[in-house]
Amino acid sequence: MNFTSNRVGQIPPYLFAEINKKKAEMLKAGIDIIDLGIGDPDLPTPKHIVDKLAEESQDPKNLKYPSFVGCPEFKQAVANFYQREYGVILDPDTEVLALIGSKEGIAHIVPTLVDPGDYVLIPDPSYPVYRMATLLANGQYHNMPLTKENSFKPDFEAIPSEILGHSKLMFLNYPGNPTSATVDVSFFEKAVAFGKKHNIPIAHDSAYNMVTFDFYKAPSILEVEGAKEIAVEFGSLSKTYSMTGFRIGYVVGNKEIIKALSVLKSNTDTGQFTPIQKAAAYALNGNQSCVTEYNGIYKERMKAMLDGLKSIGIKVDPPKGSFFIWAPVPNGYTSSEFVTSVLEQTGVIITPGTAFGPSGEGYFRVSLSVPTERLYEAVNRIKEKLKIVMS
Ligand SMILES: Cc1ncc(COP(=O)(O)O)c(C=O)c1O
Repeated sequence: MNFTSNRVGQIPPYLFAEINKKKAEMLKAGIDIIDLGIGDPDLPTPKHIVDKLAEESQDPKNLKYPSFVGCPEFKQAVANFYQREYGVILDPDTEVLALIGSKEGIAHIVPTLVDPGDYVLIPDPSYPVYRMATLLANGQYHNMPLTKENSFKPDFEAIPSEILGHSKLMFLNYPGNPTSATVDVSFFEKAVAFGKKHNIPIAHDSAYNMVTFDFYKAPSILEVEGAKEIAVEFGSLSKTYSMTGFRIGYVVGNKEIIKALSVLKSNTDTGQFTPIQKAAAYALNGNQSCVTEYNGIYKERMKAMLDGLKSIGIKVDPPKGSFFIWAPVPNGYTSSEFVTSVLEQTGVIITPGTAFGPSGEGYFRVSLSVPTERLYEAVNRIKEKLKIVMS
């Protein structure tokens, strides 16, 4: 018997399922696994945020159904954050919506804007949820290839006009997962002009907006004059404050899109637990030294891993943001062959580039999710066990 809808049936098996199965077997066999596959780093949520969650959980008023658009304190904190970081003024009532993690909003914006058969323009490689949400909405996606040659930025002019005419949404993501590519505001100016010209709303995913290094500051798409006419921006507390388990994010920008998304959401979920929203507001409004500290740790890890990869012949330009390294696979391997060999021979988990779309072939992703000593250990194991030849 098959009870599954065609919509769900068409979704390919979870890409990490095979790796997770192997990981479980190897752990059972007592092998010391170094997991550089997941985007969920080991750094703890700063104590002041956890304490605030505990405190707010004591107030009985906070234990009732939450407001499904987000509590006023959280929406105001997001507006404060945009004013402080980008000089962008947001109306917390109409231009900010709380999400149960940004993934939830990213998945729900697709059926909010896309009818069956419509196209969604998707960076390739990218976060798989853009693609899967499109399939679940019975939409179609058009991959916009991101390559080293185009600095991992889509070539808008290369999108065929017949697809443009049927496109209802474009996703962008900088600093990018998995490529770790970054942009300056002039890229967003081009994107906004393109979106307006073709009447295609833009959803910019800024999950890694505050995970940046040295003097680089990742811009918001909303810094572009008139961006609110066509764009929304998704944000998350998961990465900035190591709050992945809290499940709290937001979407800001175009009022109509936010209103439409809130209609869908109000019939789907009932918002995030109020103490979590209040702890998140506290994180956004409070002392930001934890962000500087964590970025310092990621930068040190980044340097260690880049040096390690270089010592085995794999050269990557130092990223200015995100905690990922997007590296070319050695000669003689496909992405998936390389990742499988590394796992089987060294117990190190990395992610094949093809997990993020066809243009990911020839690459693998390293997540800086473990301490520096373990990164060195991972490289040493690869150096000892695998023959690496780069062209
Ligand atoms: C590019 C990108 N966007 C969004 C998310 C979702 O983050 P969250 O749902 O925790 O806010 C992730 C998580 O890995 C991500 O990598």
